[in-house]
Amino acid sequence: MTAVVLEAVSKAFGTLRAVDDVSLDIREGEFFALIGGSGCGKTTLLRLIAGLERADRGTIRIADADATRLPAWERPVNTVFQSYALFPHLSVARNVAYGLERDGADKATIRARVEEMLGLVQLAGLEGRRPHELSGGQRQRVALARALAKHPRVLLLDEPMAALDRSLREETRSQLVRLQRRLGTTFVLVTHDQEEAMGLADRLAVMRAGRIAQIGTPRDVYENPVDRGVAAFLGRAGLIDGRVVSRAGGHAELEAIGGVRLRGRASGALAVGARASLVLRPDRLRLGEAGDAGLPARVEHAAFLGESVTVTVSLDLGGEIVLALDALAPPPPGGARVTVDWAADDAVMVPA
Ligand SMILES: Nc1ncnc2c1ncn2[C@@H]1O[C@H](COP(=O)(O)OP(=O)(O)OP(=O)(O)O)[C@@H](O)[C@H]1O
Ligand SMILES: [Mg+2]
Repeated sequence: MTAVVLEAVSKAFGTLRAVDDVSLDIREGEFFALIGGSGCGKTTLLRLIAGLERADRGTIRIADADATRLPAWERPVNTVFQSYALFPHLSVARNVAYGLERDGADKATIRARVEEMLGLVQLAGLEGRRPHELSGGQRQRVALARALAKHPRVLLLDEPMAALDRSLREETRSQLVRLQRRLGTTFVLVTHDQEEAMGLADRLAVMRAGRIAQIGTPRDVYENPVDRGVAAFLGRAGLIDGRVVSRAGGHAELEAIGGVRLRGRASGALAVGARASLVLRPDRLRLGEAGDAGLPARVEHAAFLGESVTVTVSLDLGGEIVLALDALAPPPPGGARVTVDWAADDAVMVPA
């Protein structure tokens, strides 16, 4: 069963195509993330699913029924906004009960559901408080409880953690996953924090200028990006640009500045003669001494991060790249001459 199906959905504001011919299948019970730079259309896409915007073109199906023309309140969907939008004059319990009260549910049902929801988000005992008497993280959980109170089929989350500090965000992330697994609700999370998306999502979609550039599991998109833009957006990547000079099997050879030829695993549509980039992930690179095989480079600086050390080097052929090394080995000093090498399968070549 599919939770949300978009078919060729478009939405323009004047001449700006905020969402441009997007097709997408989100599965029942899936944790799906939408990521992309500011202004790429993430919130608009979420609002189209919620029914808060009307699509100019295309169809939207929710829980296997056509919802294209359904008003927001008739869709089995709820939304948590970045601002949480809690009612300041209502208690925590009344905030959570709001949707059920509006639907005319009986008192006993409402009481039981509010208790269940506040238990789920670990806020039992705070039902009488008002939003201004809560911390940011607690408010965020009230917003979640309120959105889940009517047991929606799909929960839409628009940057729900943006207002939280780092440690609270990490705590909230694991809580979100537990909640989602336990309820089996389909979650669609919008974020521009790629680490958050990779850590939470079963699958993610990378958006760019109103369109979907790529959809897949975090690992698949990270390891097989369709182009340079996606590679640079998801995870850290050193990029070497050039032209494809040969292709054989799953591999391709790139000619970079100065005629240097480099090999990598081919990903996306690569034709001989076309512009392409080699994507070098920090954890797939080997650091050698001057004279070893690999690209000659100079160490810029090393940063100790506890679990690993990152070393930034500038390549003789131009550009900086970052290597992640085991924290046990002492990193080379700034200014040292080194080489950077990799196994052909560990570098990915993508269309520029
Ligand atoms: N109601 C509106 N009227 C006119 N333009 C709009 C409206 N809503 C959004 N836009 C424009 O549509 C584009 C997509 O906006 P959207 O809010 O969907 O982006 P986003 O990906 O959510 O960005 P952010 O990460 O900054 O929240 C932007 O260029 C924005 O300025
Ligand atoms: Mg937005």
